[in-house]
Amino acid sequence: MITIERIGALREQCDDARRRECSVGFVPTMGFFHDGHVSLMEAARSAHDLVVVSLFVNPTQFGPTEDLDAYPRDAEGDARRAAAAGVDVLFAPLIEEMYPRPMLTSVRVEGVTDGLCGASRPHHFGGVATVVTKLFSIVGPCTAYFGKKDYQQLVVVRRLAADLDIPVEVVGCSIVREPDGLAMSSRNAYLSSDERPAAAVLYRALEGAIKNVMSGERNVARVRDAAVEIVSTEPLMSLEYAEVVRGDDLASVTQLENGVEYVIALAARAGATRLIDNATFQIDGHDIHFDLYGFGTPRET
Ligand code: PAF
Repeated sequence: MITIERIGALREQCDDARRRECSVGFVPTMGFFHDGHVSLMEAARSAHDLVVVSLFVNPTQFGPTEDLDAYPRDAEGDARRAAAAGVDVLFAPLIEEMYPRPMLTSVRVEGVTDGLCGASRPHHFGGVATVVTKLFSIVGPCTAYFGKKDYQQLVVVRRLAADLDIPVEVVGCSIVREPDGLAMSSRNAYLSSDERPAAAVLYRALEGAIKNVMSGERNVARVRDAAVEIVSTEPLMSLEYAEVVRGDDLASVTQLENGVEYVIALAARAGATRLIDNATFQIDGHDIHFDLYGFGTPRET
């Protein structure tokens, strides 16, 4: 694995690979790798000749009161894990490389950024959309792998690539969970020893909501309430939102229908730590297909 800090050098590597008819798999990250990141790297490794991982803690997607300075970092550990996952190129630019001058240009994806996390983090998805567009422009035509844990981010990125005709195929990979169901996240490192087991209530809430659908419930408010009730049993967790929305455009719905993909999405705080989780599901007659636990086996969509 080589580590590259300069945009020009990464562009050259990717262009050179494509000239040799090698495909490029790309995993954008903010580092502090866990098994969820590794599952994305492995998905890219299994399908592409050149695997590029970017590691950049993007300041523009953090709000003024959010945890940019405290965001966990482990450059050496990350390099070791990426190399072990078979990554060819680790792109780790400095802030000055990505933002050498004040940005006068930004990318804003409308509509799908209004609800869910966008409601409490109004600038977050603008920062994500802009940096992902820059990264896609640097890496060039490729397949990019994103975790479904950040489901709204996945929808935003898919939409910006489609709307701006960016030649990047966006693949969503299943959430990887701890044995008690907690979705893997760099932010889990902030949880205290009391908060850590409490946080698994989010997984149980998703499971409860899915069971509700499996037992025939089609009213969205009641499915949502099943999740809310389970989260409320855990005094250390404070729910920010629980929503069931359409999977492709995050539109609100009142009644579940056959053949439509839905996502049940949750955000909650354990002390100062904000956690998100979700499950996607689709009703097909008497069958309910759902994606709740990847347990290390990424299922691509
Ligand atoms: O999901 C993340 O780690 C970040 O939001 C991303 C996509 C790398 C953009 O900074």
